[in-house]
Amino acid sequence: MALRKLVAGDSAVLRAQAHPVRTIDRVILNLLDDMAETMYHAKGVGLAAPQIGISKQLVVIDIGDGRLLELINPVLLEARGEVLDLEGCLSLPGISGEVPRAEWVAVQALDRQGREFRLEGEGLLARALQHELDHLQGILFIDRAKKILEPGESPGEDR
Ligand code: NI
Repeated sequence: MALRKLVAGDSAVLRAQAHPVRTIDRVILNLLDDMAETMYHAKGVGLAAPQIGISKQLVVIDIGDGRLLELINPVLLEARGEVLDLEGCLSLPGISGEVPRAEWVAVQALDRQGREFRLEGEGLLARALQHELDHLQGILFIDRAKKILEPGESPGEDR
């Protein structure tokens, strides 16, 4: 495993549609390992491959419950409800935003063996799934935020 370098927030790869993975080979499996290591090192709850400069549909998530989720070619199947909460991104250090997200989602993806699986999540997991799947479409949370908070600013200051 190896730490990968996070690309800068204005990198073109963060704004591109990521390519589907066609063959789950050793390169892809190594990449998933490196993504997890990089996410844990940066103390993030999720990481998408474009964030390390690789335009592939790969996501890792660990919302802090010790369960590492790996998603290859993930697709959003269903979304319910809406909740507004604070969100940040390893690609945009220092800033956060109040972002509306579905409170519950169902996602389909492939695992390391190429088997299709369905994952349902609510709360933080639902938020992380939507945030990371957005990365694969070139969408950043600042595109969806109702309000952007600059470094040092706390929510509700001007309410
Ligand atoms: Ni992000």
